[in-house]
Amino acid sequence: MKVFINKRIPETGIKILEEEGLEIIFPQHENLSHEEWLKYCQNADAILSIGNDFKYNKGFFEACPSIKAIALYSVGFDHVDIKEASQRNIPIGNTPDVLSKATSDVAFLLMQAVARRASYNFQKVKEGNWGAFDPLHALGQELYGKTLGIFGLGRIGFEMAEKSQKAFDMKIIYHNRHPNGEAEKELGATYVSFEELIKNSDVLSVHANFTPEHQELFNHEVFEQMKTNAIFINTARGGFHHQKDLYHALVKKQIWGAGLDVTNPEPMMKDDPILELSSVCVLPHIGSATIEARNGMAKLAAENITAFSKGQRMPHCANPEIYSPTL
Ligand code: DGY
Repeated sequence: MKVFINKRIPETGIKILEEEGLEIIFPQHENLSHEEWLKYCQNADAILSIGNDFKYNKGFFEACPSIKAIALYSVGFDHVDIKEASQRNIPIGNTPDVLSKATSDVAFLLMQAVARRASYNFQKVKEGNWGAFDPLHALGQELYGKTLGIFGLGRIGFEMAEKSQKAFDMKIIYHNRHPNGEAEKELGATYVSFEELIKNSDVLSVHANFTPEHQELFNHEVFEQMKTNAIFINTARGGFHHQKDLYHALVKKQIWGAGLDVTNPEPMMKDDPILELSSVCVLPHIGSATIEARNGMAKLAAENITAFSKGQRMPHCANPEIYSPTL
């Protein structure tokens, strides 16, 4: 079975594929045009797919009929038309759990960075503008006992809530499609409506899976209803927030600050005015960027491919209802 891998991944994943005797195809370079990418896929049975530059939609599946399985090197699968893949019996593997700690660490980091204006203060130091002690300048806010609202309390949201509760004794409220019994029992988390979530959160952290109905859900109407001391954190997908509305909400001081590991659009333009604000910290989508998480992702993605190659169900699959390994 031929497996196309569009970028280098940690060796642990490669080893698993090699031990299984699978033929690995790496591209000649890593910045493939759409046409080049299609050519590689047309010559493969399966893809271990890194990044979300290329969309797996009807057009792709029609252009690449040889593809029978896709193992994503991500937990998110918003760049895949799952319905279309399922109709074609193509399993879509993903990499949950192994990056939950790393990604929630970044949400936790951003929450504190924004609360204490870390980016702004770091920038001042870099500019040689340390400044004299000033009792009133660049004051942060403390998080102790505040309310953390989680939009999408799954595995990553749980880790963020647990850390915040342990560190700052934060009260946890959340909004989900389905109540999360474990979080309610272990963290005393309270399920609330979306309206209650946005009105009552001192920190609102987005952790849901992104779907088209979430497109720019966090827009001016939402920011207007949030608390003026609220910190908006997005480590999920940039599409969740309307970036210009977020900028205006920050400028008008409708909310206190924002911590973003994902932006809209992505990558963010360096002249985006949001970067000028002292109440913001932006990172370039590094949620899963630890040695441990990336090794775990390589292992899971490779195991998804090898399971498929043996005619087995992928251990981590975004469309587990389908199973038809036609090799
Ligand atoms: C994920 O795994 O979904 C991360 O956001 C990387 O894309």
